[in-house]
Amino acid sequence: MKMIFVTFVLSLTAITLLSFNQTFDLKASVQRGKTVYETNCMSCHMAEGTGLEGAFPPLAKSKNLADKNRLIKVILQGMKGPVKVNGVEYDSQMAPVSLTDKEVSDVLNYIRNSWGNKYPAVLPKDIQPGLKAPSKGYQKF
Ligand code: HEC
Repeated sequence: MKMIFVTFVLSLTAITLLSFNQTFDLKASVQRGKTVYETNCMSCHMAEGTGLEGAFPPLAKSKNLADKNRLIKVILQGMKGPVKVNGVEYDSQMAPVSLTDKEVSDVLNYIRNSWGNKYPAVLPKDIQPGLKAPSKGYQKF
């Protein structure tokens, strides 16, 4: 009887640990990401992610937000060169923004889940591999 109880407690602990490891609180990340956005991005991309036509590309309702690896590089390595967003051409540059992996994941979860955008969560552990992954047409700053 005692053995069964011990086994039960051990399994329960294992299940709890596993689920803690696997569930990522997207809502909390989006909330933290809003602050990261307001501090580091909003001055150009605007509070509602609309950007400024001809100068700063919009992030709201942009199909370019689908490739998370490209976004990771845009933030941490900047970008330059022509890009077409929602039918408008931009040919400017963005300097890299210095953020931790957690902040990059939070700000990406915010911009990818605001203003009509909806994409799966980006985890802090996705950031470094994403930096190394190639993205078509991406030009470093
Ligand atoms: C000083 C202004 C400025 C700031 C601050 C800034 N950006 Fe940018 N961002 C730009 C410009 C300009 C471009 C377009 C560069 C080009 O034309 O190659 C751009 C491009 C982008 C793109 C690519 C858009 C696309 O459709 O390809 C993303 C995503 C982006 N910025 C997100 C961010 C995030 C997130 C932050 C904050 C961590 C941020 N930016 C901070 C000016 C800025």
